[in-house]
Amino acid sequence: MQPAALLEAAAEGRLPAWSHVGDDRFAHMQRVSVLLGAWAVALDLPAAERIRWQAAGYLHDALREAPPDELRGLVPESLKTLTGKLLHGPAAAARLRADGVEDEGFLRAIAYHTIGHPEFDELGRSLFIADYIEPGRRYDPAGLATLRARMPSARNEVLRDVLRARLARMLREGRPIRAETVAFWNVVNGVPARVPA
Ligand SMILES: [Fe+2]
Ligand SMILES: [Fe+2]
Repeated sequence: MQPAALLEAAAEGRLPAWSHVGDDRFAHMQRVSVLLGAWAVALDLPAAERIRWQAAGYLHDALREAPPDELRGLVPESLKTLTGKLLHGPAAAARLRADGVEDEGFLRAIAYHTIGHPEFDELGRSLFIADYIEPGRRYDPAGLATLRARMPSARNEVLRDVLRARLARMLREGRPIRAETVAFWNVVNGVPARVPA
């Protein structure tokens, strides 16, 4: 399948054969895609961009339920040390690249959707937000509804709130924070990007 056709199919929820997700996960991907599609329309983006956003909503978790040991072999050296749960983003991006997708902003959005990246384009930022605030999420329903209501007009502020909440949780749980995530936070707060080597 040509990359453009692959994205068009994904935007409608028809996933590549290499996908590995159950019904609940698919429903989450669908909700993320619907949110992104609505924001693309609200922002008056061209049809091709809307398809790109909707496709990312579905594809970001296309390998979420594949065994981590299988995924580790797909990802670049710098990301092989990720814990099993975080490998699905980079692995899906690698699969899409192998399928001929050359849109680096799209691939970065997928690869770094859980980690964040200082060079995210508008799609990368919106996917990062949508994944966290889609209406199926169980944590803080009232808070997330408020964030959704502020999208997409206040997307810079919402991104900052989402990223702050995620960083706070990582710190509370004593988990390590990747350099890309820290750089993302700095960029969101107006500090120029310094991409880790
Ligand atoms: Fe994910
Ligand atoms: Fe997700």
